[in-house]
Amino acid sequence: MDDLARRLFRHQRLLSPEAHNTLAGTPGLIDRLEIVLENGADLPLVIDRSHLEDLGLIKVADLGMAQGGGLLESKSTDKMTDKPSQPERLKGVGKEVMEVKEAETTSAPNNVNIKPLGSGLPPLKDVVSDDKFGMTGIARSISGAIRIGEKTPVKISRSSGPGGKPRPLAAEYEGELKVLKDPGENMGGQGKIDDFRKLFMDRYRSLREMLVTQYGALSSCYDIGDLRGAEDAVGFIGIVESVRTTKNGHRMVMLEDMTGGIRVLLSKNKRELGSVNIVNDEVVGVVGKYKSGDGRGGPIVFADTIYKVDVPGHHRRRISEIKGLSAAFTSDIHIGSRMYLDKEWKRMTRWLKGESGASLPAKDGSRIKYLVLAGDLVDGIGTYPDQEKDLEIKDIFKQYEALGESLSLLPDHIEVVLIPGNHDAVRLAEPQPPLPREYQECFSNSHLHFLSNPAFFSIHGVHVAGYHGKSIDDLVTLFRDVTYENPIEGMKEMLRFRHFSPAYGMRNQLSPEERDCLIIEEIPDIFVSGHVHRFGLDNYKGVQLIEGSAWQSQTPFQKMMNLKPQPGKMGIVELDLPDAMHAWELT
Ligand SMILES: [Fe+2]
Ligand SMILES: [Fe+2]
Repeated sequence: MDDLARRLFRHQRLLSPEAHNTLAGTPGLIDRLEIVLENGADLPLVIDRSHLEDLGLIKVADLGMAQGGGLLESKSTDKMTDKPSQPERLKGVGKEVMEVKEAETTSAPNNVNIKPLGSGLPPLKDVVSDDKFGMTGIARSISGAIRIGEKTPVKISRSSGPGGKPRPLAAEYEGELKVLKDPGENMGGQGKIDDFRKLFMDRYRSLREMLVTQYGALSSCYDIGDLRGAEDAVGFIGIVESVRTTKNGHRMVMLEDMTGGIRVLLSKNKRELGSVNIVNDEVVGVVGKYKSGDGRGGPIVFADTIYKVDVPGHHRRRISEIKGLSAAFTSDIHIGSRMYLDKEWKRMTRWLKGESGASLPAKDGSRIKYLVLAGDLVDGIGTYPDQEKDLEIKDIFKQYEALGESLSLLPDHIEVVLIPGNHDAVRLAEPQPPLPREYQECFSNSHLHFLSNPAFFSIHGVHVAGYHGKSIDDLVTLFRDVTYENPIEGMKEMLRFRHFSPAYGMRNQLSPEERDCLIIEEIPDIFVSGHVHRFGLDNYKGVQLIEGSAWQSQTPFQKMMNLKPQPGKMGIVELDLPDAMHAWELT
């Protein structure tokens, strides 16, 4: 895949050969096209030259030049041939990765989970020759209310509400929610050894591709099996098998790929290496000096630089074209618990109806178009020993019925996204499927969207990653700066790893699916998490972070563990402004 195709691939689009030539021959055009795509332009899966013209990015005359084999075309040819299609040294597994990715691109990009917008093409699920990406699950309508990949035309109604009162701003626009990536119910890992092998192969391949794309130093790198005989500086990418501290205080990392393994020494004397967090099973790039066997354990690489996928540069947040709409984010409602904060939740509902009583003005409540609930919707049954004595509602169906009743009090114009957590009635291992249909029937709202954990979706063009956040239980043991008091640091680590749960085999359970659904392939604009019952707003390289609070006061278990929740809060994001994010709380 060349650079142009790769850049469009990130936006879940492909290029026709003519459009490719035009882009290749017009300096800066790809940048302008990316800006248009980031702003939610309604473009089909395959972008042709006519679409570039429709967008006003090129003139008809430009097209003629490109078609006619003039200067633009010759430039384009030069550009394309100047850039090697494949790194010279990339062979073995690396080559295989490139070939696989190219094959995927021509048939079905793995992160294209939406129906091509207005293209007249068949849905992607019909294009995909096999369902190795779980596309069937992705492309289905989970609740029947989700409009997957179909851009809803904005409907503007200026009519008044009951009693001649002006309608809330959010009621004037239809919801525009698209599921971008959601493994759905089609999770089929059986827990066999081969399933785990496939999971880690996929993790390695996906993250390797991201590293190669992002860092020029890794664009032509070795397979570990080919390092023997290499001279001087080498670059390669591996998955971490183990990390230990040597008796001299250096860190020794064992890295492997499909061709072999190698020891990598991170010297304590290199300050830039000292601050790099490395955990088992993450995928990292290394540039360093290779030394053949030293008689004490074979070959070794002395690392100069460690490359993590991370968020490269500063992410530019997408914005809604509609002025004034906002989204509210919270988590951990825990209905059914004796500690559930019913009064506070109802006051929040009243604020969403445009009444005062919160730290933000009452009119802001009428701007909320989306409410995102990031897991632990109910308290559940049997989630921890002796939970029964903490329960007000001891029947799981009745817990969901209570939640359904509570959500039915919300204004009808709000689209509600429900992501499960470890207290909900789904399997514990992640990714967790959406709430099963028998529980969905406990709800009567027409604007509910039951998604998986994690889920990637867009709201009025702004991309959101929702993950309940149970991997924080592992991250607090791995990193000094990640604590239960300050879990938002854990969210930053997830973005650095571009994986919601990078370490395998600890407290958080992962299901061995064919695809590693916990990889953060696309950088979200907003990342919401929960689980810890703390509240926080932050920004990491342009990604807005929301730690989702809770609607449950301190439990006996939390008291015993000295965990202090910060309940009854929400993060409010103004969708049309790139930086506007506020804390909501009762006054
Ligand atoms: Fe919770
Ligand atoms: Fe939780």
